[in-house]
Amino acid sequence: MSSTQHPDNDLTINPSGNESIRDVMDRFTGRRNFLKGSLATATFASLGGFSLESLANGAYVGSPAPTGGIGFTGVPANIFPMTDGITVPSGYTAKTFIAWGDAIGKAGPDAMTHWDPSTAMTEARQLTTWGSHNDGMHLFPFPAVGASGLSNDRGLLVSNHEYVDPGLVVNSMTYGTDVITKPMVDAQVAGHGVSVIEVRKISGEMKVQRPSAFARRITGATPCAISGPAAGHPLMKTAADPSGKNVLGTLNNCAHGYTPWGTYLTCEENFNGYFGTTAAKLAAQPLNSLEARYGMAAGGFGYRWHEADPRFDFRDNPNEPNRFGWIVEIDPFNPNSKPVKRTALGRFKHESVIASVGTDNTVAFYSGDDERNDYMYKFVCAKKLNTKNRAANRDLLDSGTLYVAKFNADGSGQWLPLVWNQNGLTAANGFADQAEVLIKTRQAADRVGATMMDRPEWVAVHPTTREVYLTLTNNNRRGTNTASSNNPNGTTTAGSARPPVDAANPRRDNRYGHIIRWNEANGDVAATSFQWDIFVECGDSLNAAPNLQGNIIGDDLGAPDGLWFDKDGRLWIQTDQVGNATGDFANIGGNAMFCADPATRQITRFLTSPRNCEVTGVVSTPDGKTMFVNIQHPGEDWSGSYTSNSTWPDSGFNGPTTQSTNGAIKPRSATVVITKDDGGVIGT
Ligand code: FEO
Ligand code: CA
Ligand code: CA
Repeated sequence: MSSTQHPDNDLTINPSGNESIRDVMDRFTGRRNFLKGSLATATFASLGGFSLESLANGAYVGSPAPTGGIGFTGVPANIFPMTDGITVPSGYTAKTFIAWGDAIGKAGPDAMTHWDPSTAMTEARQLTTWGSHNDGMHLFPFPAVGASGLSNDRGLLVSNHEYVDPGLVVNSMTYGTDVITKPMVDAQVAGHGVSVIEVRKISGEMKVQRPSAFARRITGATPCAISGPAAGHPLMKTAADPSGKNVLGTLNNCAHGYTPWGTYLTCEENFNGYFGTTAAKLAAQPLNSLEARYGMAAGGFGYRWHEADPRFDFRDNPNEPNRFGWIVEIDPFNPNSKPVKRTALGRFKHESVIASVGTDNTVAFYSGDDERNDYMYKFVCAKKLNTKNRAANRDLLDSGTLYVAKFNADGSGQWLPLVWNQNGLTAANGFADQAEVLIKTRQAADRVGATMMDRPEWVAVHPTTREVYLTLTNNNRRGTNTASSNNPNGTTTAGSARPPVDAANPRRDNRYGHIIRWNEANGDVAATSFQWDIFVECGDSLNAAPNLQGNIIGDDLGAPDGLWFDKDGRLWIQTDQVGNATGDFANIGGNAMFCADPATRQITRFLTSPRNCEVTGVVSTPDGKTMFVNIQHPGEDWSGSYTSNSTWPDSGFNGPTTQSTNGAIKPRSATVVITKDDGGVIGT
């Protein structure tokens, strides 16, 4: 039996809540022009019914209907006991593309060698294969051959691997009581991080290119640099790294982002769960305020890595957790590049980091902190994007201003700067310098009076209007004074007040979540004020309780998480409910992906998923005709019986069978590729 728990659910125990590189670089100009065309050519005020006048009149104006429309017939909900597979609309085809343990095509003798999931995963095998529990994902297209623009046939697909289920990795259903060894830890650490694969369309079908000089695994043990204001700070130094500028690996890489200069951004979310210590050590040295605010606990999430590797014992190495919770920048086109943790963007449980480029080439990044009653952030780069010279943008993420959002009841909002010596962020209040403001971002945001949100997950920015959408997945700790509290302004005292509802988070028992959206003042990505609107309150329209019905036009959904605008302005919504079509989700069915029209708010179910999984991560080729979707943790069951829930994708579905059938077939996280049978744009 595994004692670990899915890091994104309400049961978690955290208390707060080869070509040369020159060739690739030379193409940058082409790529940049594409992005500039899609993001910046149209002026904000002239698009989609937006008008500065109407904003001044107080009416919120959302983005226009998608170009090309939404034309598919929605699929039915996957109701309990659920089909153990993928369903997409008539006229579409979904196939497994790559799954946990499948070769990524790293050049060498293992280029084509898949792992046999009926065995335990090893570190060595994991270093040449697709990681565990794929989450956020982006496709970096190559330039088109013989034409201008970007290729729809070749690119680098980069995916996060959020976490592992230890029992599946070590092939034991008694992980919670097993003796933990270093090889068991190393195999799990290697399952985390990021995979880079080259994808190519051959004979009309998208395939993993094996071997490929670009294929790469970045794991929880890959050497990474630390840059920005917190690099080298005493709180970032450890015995193994007296410089405070180098760290091994990236962990809990949930949703993602990418930069306008063509690098990948991965977000470290529930990093606290990997660290633990003994009860005796914790009794001798109780949690300090920083550790408490970030949810450190002796047992972590049950991974027990600290029992075999002192790096993960936060009493042996008290600063090691401070080196996680950051945004990490990776250059997918340079397989030898060192990932860089960009501390200027703050330290919290980052869930996606999405860029918005202004008409003057100012770049802003939106990133939420996925914890009940935590905050929404924006980082504005100090320097402007250089559209001619990719290398000039190399350290753009090292200087700028980090803001946290305050949503006012009248539909306005402010971005509050988290700048040392402003708004009480002073040495007297525990912030000796800007590095401490960033290492303690949550506490800084507590102090300036930001709005506690219902678990910020993904952000999506409209491709032409720059309107920002944010999923708030759920919150069961708001609006009552009667029970233990997770994080009302940073306290974790049992019996203390939970925050009340507010205009931006209007439901006391928000089981189904909502999606909020905003426009920056004057369309300026660097603005310090904005206007906001709730796009939809999710819910079960058949529920007897009005508070739980939501106001969806179209198909019911709950627990919105993944969010992405395609090139035409269709808003794709992915869900991550706990309960697997039971309880509150008996009517809504299992997790799914929906397509929404920002103008009409119509929401239509596009894809349903296997049992006990989450749908997370979506991207398409530039033409919108080939879509990749990530399916994470099929069959997951914290009581340990994964295989009785799901054997997807290796049976009952049209995926490749790479595992032997001499035992129970393990379910595996996998990426699915979707095409329209008539060759059209997905969603039309
Ligand atoms: Fe890993 Fe908040 O989803
Ligand atoms: Ca989630
Ligand atoms: Ca998520």
